[in-house]
Amino acid sequence: MNILVTGGAGFIGSHLVRLLVSKYPHYRIVNLDALTYAGNLANLRDVEQAPNYFFEKGDITDQENLPALFQKHQLDGVIHLAAESHVDRSISNPLSFVETNVLGTVNLLNVARQHWKDNPAGKRFYHISTDEVFGSLGEEGFFTEETAYDPRSPYSASKASSDHFVRAYYHTFGLPVIVSNCSNNYGSYQFPEKLIPLMINNIREQKPLPVYGDGQYTRDWLWVKDHAAAIDLIFHQGKIGETYNIGGNNEWKNIDLVHKLCDIIDELLGRPPGHSRQLITFVRDRPGHDRRYAIDASKIREELGWEPSVQFEEGFRQTAQWYLEHQDWLQGVLSGAYQDFYRQQYAQ
Ligand code: NAD
Ligand code: TYD
Repeated sequence: MNILVTGGAGFIGSHLVRLLVSKYPHYRIVNLDALTYAGNLANLRDVEQAPNYFFEKGDITDQENLPALFQKHQLDGVIHLAAESHVDRSISNPLSFVETNVLGTVNLLNVARQHWKDNPAGKRFYHISTDEVFGSLGEEGFFTEETAYDPRSPYSASKASSDHFVRAYYHTFGLPVIVSNCSNNYGSYQFPEKLIPLMINNIREQKPLPVYGDGQYTRDWLWVKDHAAAIDLIFHQGKIGETYNIGGNNEWKNIDLVHKLCDIIDELLGRPPGHSRQLITFVRDRPGHDRRYAIDASKIREELGWEPSVQFEEGFRQTAQWYLEHQDWLQGVLSGAYQDFYRQQYAQ
């Protein structure tokens, strides 16, 4: 197969590209990425020389050049991850989320539809989405594939919109689509604007640890390589027209997670117990902050036999260790633009 991965230079995309390139030497894996602030080819240094890997710098909103790219690589499948992905950025600039996540997705759908129209057999367009489209849970309950959409941030509204377009292309045009909605990922190569790498970096540097609101917000955390494995499985064995929820069954209140990271890093760096917890600073809450996300992943478990492979204790420790050992990578992504974003975001 010739597979297009969009957003392959980002966090999840780079793990997926690495998995596909090594597992399927007989496939051609084409990575289309615009290399925004979140895209980094250093995430893929170890696969860039592989004969079955091809990088194309480009934007998913580009109507002119994408048809030629489909033609050039004779694409049979698309795994679509390219997106603006950070909720806080979506609050300061919603329109860029509409442009990439909604218009970019519809553009890709149009190009795939056009390219596959005479020969649709065996093709698939797999759209990667988030559990945030379902909105916010109270103390109880889980999101299933049947939960009604209720997005509450510009990010989740843009992802919800793109999910609707993908399903609309299945019903209206018969495009062979699949969708999955996953919980929060953690692991190596995540841009340090997101909670876990941001906290690890600040703990290492002994900077304030900005916890939003009362810190009682809950997320379900999944190791990124388990998400990549689920994507591989769904792409190959998922049913066309279906949706799959993916989750880690690993719920943490933010404050407990930050405590855990402080303790792991203090231990790894030989600091006294409790040392870094003193850096925790409660800051202004995120507007529209969703209280709790939790996924019921029974469908993918029962139908496709997928389960998370890594226990959270081990996963968090490995992740902390990776960031501590990859200061060069971290310094590379902490550009001047990131510093500006950080100052603006955490100004009191
Ligand atoms: P990321 O921000 O790390 O990476 C996004 C990638 O997309 C970057 O490489 C960026 O350069 C690229 N990109 C952005 N705009 C583009 C455009 N217009 N054209 C081409 N490329 C563009 O994101 P991530 O965390 O890896 O998330 C990947 C996907 O998974 C997103 O669709 C996101 O909604 C979804 N998702 C993420 C999580 C999570 O916890 N991170 C959970 C569930 C679903
Ligand atoms: P984040 O990593 O941005 O993922 P998402 O908002 O997509 O779930 O944030 C995870 C949780 O951590 C969320 O409840 C917001 C919170 N948070 C903080 O408390 N402080 C921070 O500095 C950041 C970035 C997030």
